[in-house]
Amino acid sequence: MELIDSHAHVDDSRFDEDREAMFERTRDAGVTTLLALGTGPGPHKLDAAMPFAEAYDWIYTTVGIHPHEAKDVTQGHLDELARLAKHPKVIAWGEIGLDYFYDHSPRDVQERVFRAQMELAAAAKLPIIIHCRDAWADCMRLIEEVWRPTGLGGILHCFTSTLEDARRGIEMGFMVSFAGNSTYPKTQNLRDVAKVLPLANILIETDAPYLAPQPYRGKRNEPAYVAEVARILASVRDLPADEFAARTAGNFRRFFRLDGLRVSAAAES
Ligand code: NI
Repeated sequence: MELIDSHAHVDDSRFDEDREAMFERTRDAGVTTLLALGTGPGPHKLDAAMPFAEAYDWIYTTVGIHPHEAKDVTQGHLDELARLAKHPKVIAWGEIGLDYFYDHSPRDVQERVFRAQMELAAAAKLPIIIHCRDAWADCMRLIEEVWRPTGLGGILHCFTSTLEDARRGIEMGFMVSFAGNSTYPKTQNLRDVAKVLPLANILIETDAPYLAPQPYRGKRNEPAYVAEVARILASVRDLPADEFAARTAGNFRRFFRLDGLRVSAAAES
């Protein structure tokens, strides 16, 4: 089975004890490519995932500041992100957005930092990875206003909203990514969305170490478990798991042009 984990936090300290073994299990599970989010522990460490993208050819990374930490952001941090974004293994900007569930930062500050990062991502010509929790109306409004005109698209990560929002995202050039929470008994609503969206717009992820899929729920999540997300969503789509996994992997490679085009594009810039 060929799998791609479109969203994992492999720099997390919960992997410090066994990171190499975790990477081996990831490869053994069939994961050919992984997107390691660069948001790290916060804006004091903006290159948290860079060492892994540099050490492994199958790992790519992002730059960005999570909405939780919006209140700590300085102009210096934004300048540093713009510099890091030029690294050839950085293929997206994120995760960025709004989180009204935790409200770790005031909402107006979250919006200001979200807007600022969309402008930087546009200048860097990178797609964005959206983190949105209990803030879908505002996220969609800001994407429509600030991001849609760029045509760069992105990923609605750990999708938790309605079919209508998923379709609106796709219209604006986004892929819709389902995480481990889409396997839980109480999230039939997410499986209903995954069942009817165009398969070409679906990605799968772990969001490791968070949100372990059903058989591992409550434990530390790791990228190898993306196989479980594939297995459950494949059954929802009435497809063999290996076919669903291969299609979503193909979607990721096509979206990020990881077929050689990207290398030449990076060499030109
Ligand atoms: Ni995440």
